[in-house]
Amino acid sequence: MNTQDLVDTARKMVANDKGLLAMDESNPTCNKRFAKLGIPLTVEARRAWRELIVTTPGLGESISGAILYDESIRQQKKDGTPFVKVIADAGIIPGIKVDTGAKDLAGHPGEKITEGLDGLRDRLAEYFQMGARFAKWRAVIAVGDGIPSRGCIGANAQALARYAALCQEAGLVPVVEPEVLMEGEHSLGRCGEVTEEVLRTVFMELYTQRVMLEGMILKPNMVLPGLTCPKQATVDEVADATVRCLLRAVPAAVPGIAFLSGGQPSEMASARLNAMNVRFKSRLPWALAFSFARAIQQPAMEIWRGKESNVLAAQQALSHRARCNRAARRGEYDAATDQDISATTLSPKS
Ligand code: 13P
Repeated sequence: MNTQDLVDTARKMVANDKGLLAMDESNPTCNKRFAKLGIPLTVEARRAWRELIVTTPGLGESISGAILYDESIRQQKKDGTPFVKVIADAGIIPGIKVDTGAKDLAGHPGEKITEGLDGLRDRLAEYFQMGARFAKWRAVIAVGDGIPSRGCIGANAQALARYAALCQEAGLVPVVEPEVLMEGEHSLGRCGEVTEEVLRTVFMELYTQRVMLEGMILKPNMVLPGLTCPKQATVDEVADATVRCLLRAVPAAVPGIAFLSGGQPSEMASARLNAMNVRFKSRLPWALAFSFARAIQQPAMEIWRGKESNVLAAQQALSHRARCNRAARRGEYDAATDQDISATTLSPKS
């Protein structure tokens, strides 16, 4: 392991107000999103969608790293250029999702454990060889009556830490993603309590497994009320609750925190990230960035709908969302302008 390379890569991933683009949906997840829009559920449609993303003009101005999936890291543009090369040529660091998905946790109804540790050392070596310089592993934590349990939090935190240690051994920066889900009626306060407990447990396990904090990125959820909670929160309340929780639980040695979007509407994710940076940026030890999938891709996918004639308009929408999130990192995101642009020039055509 070259420690300095890890530190440099982690810093680059959150430098210049840029963020990560998660385009690492597994085939079943990608197909689910395609099915809703009537896009064929084929290898070729997934390849074409990923080609549209990686060839978006100017993407590297807002995106520092792109997370691929095992299928897409092996794919090429129509002209034969590997996606990894297209990404790297655009100044974007290639990354790779390496977990193999969340399965039911035995003895814990309603809870999941993320799998993928078996054989991971060999897979990481192959991905490094292919050009990846960072990796991602997502753990999911559901909130409900009597959950999350200590067993679920502990098992997922330990798996995240073992994954992270293996990544650093292989020269890949681990993106450590413990996601507290939005589904449920729980309050903003409850999400804050759960998120804090999860993060404290994750960092204890990272310490136990000797993970170098300067060479990793944390990818957490924002602290939000459950989707069906009767009392929803303002943008500023979310910003305050999220930053309070992170300040309590995330060591200052971590260079960057890149939020997942978790199914929030795209504009809302940008507005909340913006509020955190407006209110707290000058007082924080780490960069507050983004690592969004849906909040960057969704509007573009709704325009594309699998049609070649919609590619340019979809790329404009993708580029627009990436730029909005870069502005949010600077605390310069303007929700009113965003809505005007989205409503006029970027709305889906039939
Ligand atoms: P969303 O931004 O759609 O939550 O996806 C982020 C991600 O990479 C989930 O693992």
